[in-house]
Amino acid sequence: MKTAYNFNAGPCVLPKEAIESTINAIRDFDNTGIGLFEISHRTPGWERTMEETRQLWRDLLNIPAEYEILFLGGGASTQFMAVPANLLNKKAAYLQTGVWAKKAAKEAKLFGETVIVASSEDKTYSYIPKDFLSKVPADADYFHITTNNTIYGTEIKYDLENVPTMLVADMSSDIMSRPVDVKKYGLIYGGAQKNVGPAGVTFVIVRKDILGKITDRQYMNPLPTMVDYRTHAAEEAKNISMFNTPPVSAIFLMHETLKWVKNTIGGVAEMNKINVKKSELLYAEIDRNSMFRGTVEAKEDRSIMNHCWVMAEGREGLQDKFMAFAKERGMVGIKGHRSVGGFRASLYNACPIEAVEALVQCMQDFEKENK
Ligand SMILES: Cc1ncc(COP(=O)(O)O)c(C=O)c1O
Repeated sequence: MKTAYNFNAGPCVLPKEAIESTINAIRDFDNTGIGLFEISHRTPGWERTMEETRQLWRDLLNIPAEYEILFLGGGASTQFMAVPANLLNKKAAYLQTGVWAKKAAKEAKLFGETVIVASSEDKTYSYIPKDFLSKVPADADYFHITTNNTIYGTEIKYDLENVPTMLVADMSSDIMSRPVDVKKYGLIYGGAQKNVGPAGVTFVIVRKDILGKITDRQYMNPLPTMVDYRTHAAEEAKNISMFNTPPVSAIFLMHETLKWVKNTIGGVAEMNKINVKKSELLYAEIDRNSMFRGTVEAKEDRSIMNHCWVMAEGREGLQDKFMAFAKERGMVGIKGHRSVGGFRASLYNACPIEAVEALVQCMQDFEKENK
């Protein structure tokens, strides 16, 4: 097989051993003689896999018993609607740090008053606004943040303290990249297709006591069955995320991916050390190389997952040349999002350090040839 260094923003690189064991299960799931695509989601082996997957989440992120972990369809984009549907009685607050955050807020507006406490849209979302917590209304039902802004390469890399209301986070692109204090959040959600599996499954970690509290709202009240998190957070373990057919094969690969984080890497704290090392390596080269310039100037706001850079001043004409040069050397998925331009390398959990070293070497070689 051709060597490709995969820097795609998601779907993206996944652990090789997780892919291998999934291929085996596609042929024969749990010694049943039936492949993963063909099993019933009511087979005991599948119920066990669901339970184990939830347990892996609990172990890796220390998720307390009062939270349920749901595996749903529809992507993070469906959660943009489901979150306000379940939690917005009167008013919600949103931090607008990118187009995903903006899309999330747009859905909230359908359900009630939506306050944008701060936005970095003025500078193409190239920074995280400062002092936004003081602007969060205390009477908001929740405050929504996007911890990692996949397109712009900015990230809130820590758990916010002293939030005046319940915190809700879209962690699509940095979940499992660092330890998170789940207790600080009412709800965490995301699409799996960066750090925890393939596209097709969405995770929702929700504190159960916050559900079923919509009293004042007219719109979508009562909630449609599938939108109501309580439908999926069933009492009996065997029914959790099993109200309708779950995305079986995607959850299986999530199970294998989490096993890799736990057993091969040694947990999320270890994962974070590796991620920081990879990230520092690439940012150091972006900052050193005379050909390039990082788009996120405030270093404390730089994402350790998505790294964005453009050609340095006076070198703009070399953009296509670098893209072709990098492609020739096996770099895949480094084109920046169209709203930012330039380049983006996503160094998710499963991206090996060798790929980052190859990219750094490629940037150095390009500089030597074009100085
Ligand atoms: C931070 C963030 N939120 C939401 C989404 C949308 O996810 P989905 O495609 O699963 O709806 C993405 C997709 O890249 C994302 O990066």
